[in-house]
Amino acid sequence: MPYYRMVGEVPRKRHVQFRRPDGGLYAEELMGEEGFSSDSSLLYHRHLPTAILKSEAVEPTAATALTPNLPLSPRHFRTQDLPVNGDLVTGRGLLAGNADVRMSYVATETPSELYRNSMGDECVYIASGRVRFESTYGVIEAGEGDYVVIPTGTIHRWVPEGRVTAFTIEAAGHIRPPKRYLSKHGQFLEHAPYCERDLRGPQEPLIVEGEEVPVLVRTRGGLTRLVYRNHPFDVVGWDGCLYPFAFNINDFEPIVKLTHAPPPVHQTFEGPNFVICSFCPRPLDFHPEAIPIPYNHHNVDSDELMFYAGGDYTARRGSGIDVGSISLHPAGFTHGPQPGAVEAVIEAVRQGHSTTSELAVMVDTFRPLDLGPAALSVEDPAYAWTWAR
Ligand SMILES: [Fe+2]
Repeated sequence: MPYYRMVGEVPRKRHVQFRRPDGGLYAEELMGEEGFSSDSSLLYHRHLPTAILKSEAVEPTAATALTPNLPLSPRHFRTQDLPVNGDLVTGRGLLAGNADVRMSYVATETPSELYRNSMGDECVYIASGRVRFESTYGVIEAGEGDYVVIPTGTIHRWVPEGRVTAFTIEAAGHIRPPKRYLSKHGQFLEHAPYCERDLRGPQEPLIVEGEEVPVLVRTRGGLTRLVYRNHPFDVVGWDGCLYPFAFNINDFEPIVKLTHAPPPVHQTFEGPNFVICSFCPRPLDFHPEAIPIPYNHHNVDSDELMFYAGGDYTARRGSGIDVGSISLHPAGFTHGPQPGAVEAVIEAVRQGHSTTSELAVMVDTFRPLDLGPAALSVEDPAYAWTWAR
């Protein structure tokens, strides 16, 4: 994250003695990216963050095999048909992925155990329900429409309040605001569709007492469960530019044009070889002869996966796509509005409709996406042929 926050108690200078009320030293920990050369935070623990008692291998509970998109086809997956399963970490049903990013869907009511993803950042989009995100940095209360961005290595857990559904994006690297939205020193620029005030970080420390606390750790080699001597939620204060935060999709300020604007205006975050875009309710393009839905397009370098989160998606009318659906339009295939959609929207505008209520999260990847078992279990096989009806 580009900007500085401080939560709880920290010493006036970094790397100096900082003592507990009983006279002992707090344990300072640096969480930093790119080998001391990028964003970092300093956290002050009551106990040693290095004290582990046990390490054991964990078998994955969900199927993780990926299948190439062959024969090549546009796809429609109905996540609304996936069952409630596991928790917000172990219950993820893998939808699609490649070496850069894995996307999953989860519906759950169960709190997760403590979890650390050491392979990369995660962006968890809460599609419905409310959930408390607890971490070494503190708590973020999240709800429908929130992206929760979690830096690599952050120990955290998810505690749902009732049923929660989420679309999860796991990167093999870091997820950040697009560089073009930021000044050379990291402040959001005036043309950016959101800014610092829209990002919600933890407000105060979260202290939990406990001993022999298991933490599920995801690494490139697989899953491990480390047992910590003391509960990792023992940070009395932290400061820096690296921390989890939430951003609500309804705080995204859509950019509109006289004629149709391409998806980069909807870009919200970027990761290694992928981007995340938010399609939000907005005025339609306002040229008197505008066609205010997308033209047919072939992004020759991208696979495009879209999660339909809410509203009415005019360009897909008649395709079977509904809220909760996911479409995958791969490179090698030209996609565009369903037949009749262009004339229908022109007529709607003529009758006075001037806005769209669509709400969607799109992930464009720069390398092909393979298909996950959860997606294949809820595929609508008729979708590929809907343009030819
Ligand atoms: Fe597209």
